[in-house]
Amino acid sequence: MSKVIVVIGAGLIGQAIARRVGAGQKVLLADINEQNARSAAQVLDDAGFETNTAVVDVSSRESVHALVETATSLGEVTGVIHAAGVSASQASIHQILAVDLYGTALVLEEFGHVIASGGSAVVISSQSGHRLPALSIEDDRALATTPVDQLLELPLLREENLSDGLHAYQLSKRANVLRVQAEAVRWAQRGARVNAISPGIIITPLARDELSGANGAGYQKMIELSPAHRAGTPDEIGTVGELLMTERGAFITGSDILIDGGSTASHFYGPLAGLAPTPKEKP
Ligand SMILES: NC(=O)c1ccc[n+]([C@@H]2O[C@H](COP(=O)([O-])OP(=O)(O)OC[C@H]3O[C@@H](n4cnc5c(N)ncnc54)[C@H](O)[C@@H]3O)[C@@H](O)[C@H]2O)c1
Repeated sequence: MSKVIVVIGAGLIGQAIARRVGAGQKVLLADINEQNARSAAQVLDDAGFETNTAVVDVSSRESVHALVETATSLGEVTGVIHAAGVSASQASIHQILAVDLYGTALVLEEFGHVIASGGSAVVISSQSGHRLPALSIEDDRALATTPVDQLLELPLLREENLSDGLHAYQLSKRANVLRVQAEAVRWAQRGARVNAISPGIIITPLARDELSGANGAGYQKMIELSPAHRAGTPDEIGTVGELLMTERGAFITGSDILIDGGSTASHFYGPLAGLAPTPKEKP
């Protein structure tokens, strides 16, 4: 039976990880934007990968379920790279929660029903969630374990309790890491692993929108005042994705790897303190 790696969100980070782990397997590239999936497939086909494409909206259960059926019709699903997302400059609070938070929980639930034994998934979270102050134990647990279709009804996610899109994005990314931790227990019942990666600023179309958006000056500061003094590249996320998704990462599950050139360290303990973009104060 063929082995299938599903890439959800065929942007540059998703593609970079797929190139590291997709050789010899079918690579199913799924995106809400069909053209993005097709362009990614063209590049990977030309580089010797075997690809298929699909359209998916991760904020719709019906759509994610249809993707699971497409993937399983191609073979056994040995890997899931969940790299679909929208940023604070690209979308409304409602869309950010629907795609980044609910969509991720949905993908983990739906693919958790079919992932092959020995299979592995990575979810692309963000450094942004690491800058959010700690939540209560109750809120952590609620984000980690509330049934997917009730998640967006949680009081802490109500629009009136969120100060702006960045707040919604940070909470979504914190929720991704918590969800991965809880799902790692369920995925283990099928002999599979799941982890998160929290990247810093990685040059992609999404990051370019942030760098030229309302918080652009703050993101520029994050680059200048981080220990690495530069933005990252999708290929550097590919390296971490490869570790997490292959046998070398066999002891890693339910984990989150922060790869941000040290900008979070600088935010808490260095010259970036108080200068990185933060959600607006609630009036
Ligand atoms: N680039 C960065 O600096 C950075 C930093 C931290 C985290 N991230 C996260 O990495 C992930 C990938 O982003 P990227 O930088 O590769 O951006 P990208 O714009 O290259 O890719 C994101 C892809 O997600 C797709 N997408 C958006 N909404 C979708 C939906 N509802 N259903 C299916 N697909 C959808 C887009 O069409 C796009 O192709 C995102 O979750 C983002 O939040 C990016």
